[in-house]
Amino acid sequence: MEIDSYNERKAFDETKAGVKGLVDAHITEVPPIFRLPQGTLSNKKPSVSTSAIPIIDFADVDVSREGIVEKVKDAAEKWGFFQVINHGIPLSVLEEIQGGVRRFHEQDLQVKKSYFTRDLSKTFLYNSNFDLFNSSSLCVNWRDTFVCCMAPDPPNPEVIPLACRDAMIEYSKHVMSLGGLLFELLSEALGLHSEMLKSMDCMKGLNMVGHYYPPCPQPDLTFGTSKHSDSSFITILLQDQIGGLQVLHQDSWVDVSPIPGALVINIGDFLQLVTNDKFISVEHRVLANIAGPRISVAGFFSTNMLPNSTVYGPIKELLSEENPPKYKDFTLEEYTKGYFDKGLDGTSHLSKFKM
Ligand code: OGA
Ligand code: NI
Repeated sequence: MEIDSYNERKAFDETKAGVKGLVDAHITEVPPIFRLPQGTLSNKKPSVSTSAIPIIDFADVDVSREGIVEKVKDAAEKWGFFQVINHGIPLSVLEEIQGGVRRFHEQDLQVKKSYFTRDLSKTFLYNSNFDLFNSSSLCVNWRDTFVCCMAPDPPNPEVIPLACRDAMIEYSKHVMSLGGLLFELLSEALGLHSEMLKSMDCMKGLNMVGHYYPPCPQPDLTFGTSKHSDSSFITILLQDQIGGLQVLHQDSWVDVSPIPGALVINIGDFLQLVTNDKFISVEHRVLANIAGPRISVAGFFSTNMLPNSTVYGPIKELLSEENPPKYKDFTLEEYTKGYFDKGLDGTSHLSKFKM
């Protein structure tokens, strides 16, 4: 990284006020560290596409399970993404967590600063751009974030800031139970026993992430989140009405249109790996927007922050002579360390684990 860029990033980091701090200071131009290299901005608009991310209605999951499993299978194989409606999490719970994330980021700066850290061993941490100092990250994203590890060990409530404490605890309970249903449906979609993915500890860990994307004065010069795939088994994402999330599908960027009350589900790298590429972990990104703030809440099913010696590889039951293993065995810890060190540089980490 150029010394100027490093010094600017360091100065930004030391404010502990994040991107929101810049916006509160009424900047009218995007500072250089946030600007994409020239020539990488051209394809921001989604290519006009007649297809859209599948929307799956879970209302009748008890009576028409087979049909729903079929839809989940199709989406997981072809898109790596789908939206779920009638998932059972009450609208009031969704509104509460969005409010909680917003309250955290908009609270008194001195209180918020006390949570600022880059120490990944902390149960609750707030910062802007986890990969700020990684040499490979092309530019800094227009986004602030907090992360709270909700499982396997539920945090002592006192560790969670008051602004979002009750909302985080309540929403996480619902995300856990929806996660349970999703891992059953995904197991069935693989032709395996319903409990298979759960028995592999796919939902042992839950990291809850509260993103805050402040309004951006020059949204064409930067990204809210650079292109990446998730290091998780699955991710359950709640987005508000602002929009900007896009998914790479058949070489085009497709908008994930906000649907009130819906949740966005995506397959992460670990599930692609254990399914030997049957389900796909697809790249996605978030555009910056002149409107805002945009709030999103991502629940990552993974124990990746914690010491864990469990070894994962392609599920044996899915392998055959025609379908030999495509990946080496790995531990979540080993995988995630590399993922964090690399940062959101637009390259695939999964490919490093290919045989
Ligand atoms: C993520 C992510 C999308 C969003 O946190 O990995 O892709 O809409 N978030 O914030
Ligand atoms: Ni993501």
